[in-house]
Amino acid sequence: MPSAADAHIAGAETQSIGSADEAVLFDRIAIEFDVAGGKTFRAVEEADLKVAAGEFVAIVGPTGCGKSTLLNAAAGLLKPASGRVSIFGGPIAGLNERAGYLFQQDALMPWKTAVENVAIGLEVAGVRRKDARDQARAWLKRVGLAPFADRYPHMLSGGQRKRVALAQVLIRDPEIILMDEPFGPLDAQTRLIMGDLLLRLWSENRKAVLFVTHDLEEAISLSDRVVIMSAGPAARIIGDFPIPLARPRDIGEIKLDPEFQALHRDIWHILKKEVLKAYPGFADGEAE
Ligand SMILES: Nc1ncnc2c1ncn2[C@@H]1O[C@H](COP(=O)(O)OP(=O)(O)OP(=O)(O)O)[C@@H](O)[C@H]1O
Ligand SMILES: [Mg+2]
Repeated sequence: MPSAADAHIAGAETQSIGSADEAVLFDRIAIEFDVAGGKTFRAVEEADLKVAAGEFVAIVGPTGCGKSTLLNAAAGLLKPASGRVSIFGGPIAGLNERAGYLFQQDALMPWKTAVENVAIGLEVAGVRRKDARDQARAWLKRVGLAPFADRYPHMLSGGQRKRVALAQVLIRDPEIILMDEPFGPLDAQTRLIMGDLLLRLWSENRKAVLFVTHDLEEAISLSDRVVIMSAGPAARIIGDFPIPLARPRDIGEIKLDPEFQALHRDIWHILKKEVLKAYPGFADGEAE
């Protein structure tokens, strides 16, 4: 987990930018890290990105390009060296309290049961323990885990733990959901089931989502827009593709849709060059 001290801290940001219906706005942000020898490493260069309230945006790019870094900037965990981050039209001050963050690694507390893990966010926010646990049980039911509510994380499968983690974020009803390769370690079928579950919950109560993934098919299946980053260092946003596929979507079936395939072809054309840069030694064209 980065701390604000890892990144260069710009002066206190007070000026409002963006508008109230822009959940997240990056205005030409650059992010740098202090590294050994008194040097700085410029991870992200002048990124511009807007995520509207209720919009589902995926970020795709090669390993090490700065996807997690951008999510951390939206979460208020990192401050840009230059440029501005705005949340619903206001400057970000400290941690972004309007966002929930679903990390790639399991963030469940092993000594707490599923229901206790899901309830904890409400309890910390001052909700009475009984009410918090009742709501947590209702959330576990919504993610299909009612019979597992009293199990500890080690008694759950990887996919079940991800569903607990999803309930843990959604129970707080954040206006912005930041997801960093949340289904990365899961097998292909479980990823599809998780994607369908996520879309079902999201369509009941649309929040702004910034969803990081390596998987272009997953990005297109889920999102309203797919944003492509170049290979780092000094990575930039080099593509921004609207995904006009009709909703509701069945993400197991949608890949067969010719419109999906055309979008995939267009985006992969841009992404492939960047992915190859992240694997020096691969000649262009070998990853066709
Ligand atoms: N605290 C830090 N100090 C120095 N460099 C960092 C730090 N955090 C990240 N970086 C560097 O910034 C770049 C972007 O890292 P980031 O974790 O955002 O990549 P990513 O796109 O999420 O990669 P992956 O797909 O592998 O998760 C990388 O080159 C990384 O080494
Ligand atoms: Mg990452």
